[in-house]
Amino acid sequence: MTSPTRASDTPFAIEVESGKKYFWCACGKSTKQPFCDGSHSGTSFTPIIYTATESKKIFFCGCKVNISLPPSRLIIFYVFLCFLLIYIILNINFLVDKRHHEL
Ligand code: FES
Repeated sequence: MTSPTRASDTPFAIEVESGKKYFWCACGKSTKQPFCDGSHSGTSFTPIIYTATESKKIFFCGCKVNISLPPSRLIIFYVFLCFLLIYIILNINFLVDKRHHEL
């Protein structure tokens, strides 16, 4: 299973409590949508933890396609990509310099 299963075409409106953690199902297999029930076991998916900062109604994604990473994980992913690109560029320059000196 490499892509999530579409659990719903509409989001799930949930009243969350301030300070409480919620485990959003990322795989779409849970029978307790939009939350994880452990059905992701054996897949590459894990639930996304959301901690409510205030008590209010939240709409949790049901399609599992458009939102696969929360913003904080996206930022970490983009920072990782930037460092990887810098590393590759620096090493290419190093290799080019090394070949230039050998000639
Ligand atoms: S059941 Fe879907 S992430 Fe756990």
